[in-house]
Amino acid sequence: MSLERWAAVDEYYSKLLMPPDTVLQHALDRSNKAELPAINVAANQGKMLMILAQMQRAQRILEIGTLGGYSTIWLARALPDGGKLITLEYEQKHADIARENIKHAGLSDKVEIRVGPAAQTLPALVKEGVAAFDLIFIDADKPGYPEYFEWSMKLSREGTIIIADNVVRDGEVVNQKSDDERVQGIRAFNEVVTKEKRFNATAIQTVGCKGYDGFMIGIVTG
Ligand code: SAH
Ligand code: DHB
Ligand code: MG
Repeated sequence: MSLERWAAVDEYYSKLLMPPDTVLQHALDRSNKAELPAINVAANQGKMLMILAQMQRAQRILEIGTLGGYSTIWLARALPDGGKLITLEYEQKHADIARENIKHAGLSDKVEIRVGPAAQTLPALVKEGVAAFDLIFIDADKPGYPEYFEWSMKLSREGTIIIADNVVRDGEVVNQKSDDERVQGIRAFNEVVTKEKRFNATAIQTVGCKGYDGFMIGIVTG
């Protein structure tokens, strides 16, 4: 099976289930124009995130890794009136593009972007004593995942859903000797996750227009 085939199926289902959406297309166009890397989630994955947030009746969402705000918009659309999403981004340029895209989506009142390394903005959230999040999406630099997961647990309550993107990486995740720091980051993340008794998770491989990768999804149990 080839990327071409996977992409054709993504396109087929996108046409069936995700009608043309000028807001999301605008976000992607602006991101491309500004030469942001095209490492946003696919449309069907973005919609999956939205549906998971709806199933969770999420009122508070945390995202780590904003890029141009594409996944942010999908997730924020699941929020009820008064709901809030905080998204963390290292690059000022990415945050600026995302802010504009989120404004264009009419979601500025629900979304707060915090700029800086997540290793600093996460402890700042804990220090502020913010209320626990209902859903957390980890999608920033992969070497940071172990640390981001530990802070995410501190920002969780019993029942919080934590989702992590890119946990398969073309299957390289099983290669102990990989010299890709992103792969090693995921492997280190997996070690931390398996040691955390209060987190009950699974991992799902995905193929599609973005290639072969996968998500970890789990629930905080206590
Ligand atoms: N969630 C986005 C994609 C995020 S790509 C989507 O699906 O649409 C990963 C993002 O994490 C990039 O914008 C990158 O700049 C950001 N990032 C990298 N290192 C970071 C760090 N240390 N702290 C916070 N964000 C970081
Ligand atoms: C990369 C990062 C991502 O979050 C993603 O979804 C795909 C690729 C990367 O850093 O290569
Ligand atoms: Mg990703």
